[in-house]
Amino acid sequence: MDVLVVGGTGAAGRAAVVALTARGHSVRALSRSGSTDVPGATGYRGDLSTGAGLKEAMSGVEAVIDASNVLSQSYDVAVKALVGGTRRLLDAEAAAGVRHHVLLSIVAIDGVPFGYYRAKVAQEQAVAEGSVPYTILRATQFHEFAGQMADRMSFGPFVPVPMFVTRPVAVSEVGAALADAVEAGPSGRAPDLHGPRVENVVDMARRTLKARGKRRIVVPLPLPGAIGRVMRSGQLGGTDGVAGVQTFDEWVRRGTDGA
Ligand SMILES: NC(=O)c1ccc[n+]([C@@H]2O[C@H](COP(=O)([O-])OP(=O)(O)OC[C@H]3O[C@@H](n4cnc5c(N)ncnc54)[C@H](OP(=O)(O)O)[C@@H]3O)[C@@H](O)[C@H]2O)c1
Repeated sequence: MDVLVVGGTGAAGRAAVVALTARGHSVRALSRSGSTDVPGATGYRGDLSTGAGLKEAMSGVEAVIDASNVLSQSYDVAVKALVGGTRRLLDAEAAAGVRHHVLLSIVAIDGVPFGYYRAKVAQEQAVAEGSVPYTILRATQFHEFAGQMADRMSFGPFVPVPMFVTRPVAVSEVGAALADAVEAGPSGRAPDLHGPRVENVVDMARRTLKARGKRRIVVPLPLPGAIGRVMRSGQLGGTDGVAGVQTFDEWVRRGTDGA
């Protein structure tokens, strides 16, 4: 099958490309950089915020995976990027005759008063209301998650990390689940995917930085109010769905990705 992975150079997108190419699919990876360094994929340059490059990347494609992201916690910024980008993507898909849109989202975010999560829920809604048959796969935070935060939110030697608890999952298993979704065809909401064990994200950050040989000081950040209560409650680890296999311990032992 010809598949386009939007955000195909990111953590989840790259994993989806690896899984799809291993199963013999023909894969294109779209990003603003248009990078072609994703093994097995043809790189396409495109931008969801303008729609540039979408038509060219989509010609002849049967399924599109949206594994793009926006690095903002503000609802206004995130909803403009995620919902606006989704609408542009769905319009291009409808015009090109794409038969399946697969969105990657996050477990247990309904009603959580956090701008980025509210924008992800709005993005899911835009997909569900769109004209292209869809699958929405929700996953918990990846094993890479604490490292991603450290890369993006360091202040000198200090790395502020929100205090919360989740059941992190291997991104390779998320990539495989996205490939499963493509092969299964439009299914609406797929079963949630979570990791095998509960972990503390502050601890994940410390262990990721240690494994990378980085001398940084992790500063636990207690989030206030309702958002803090949700994050500490373990809600984001999910309650049911499919359990991944690789533990955070195993992932650290195999060597963390990133800088
Ligand atoms: N990280 C987690 O723990 C986690 C857990 C569950 C679900 N998710 C969801 O999974 C999705 C992917 O997350 P991730 O952590 O894999 O993201 P990521 O590593 O930050 O990668 C984002 C990808 O999107 C591309 N991109 C960003 N803006 C774009 C735009 N305007 N147009 C086209 N491409 C654009 C980036 O490439 P360029 O910058 O070159 O454009 C990159 O390829 C997100 O929707 C997130 O909510 C993440």
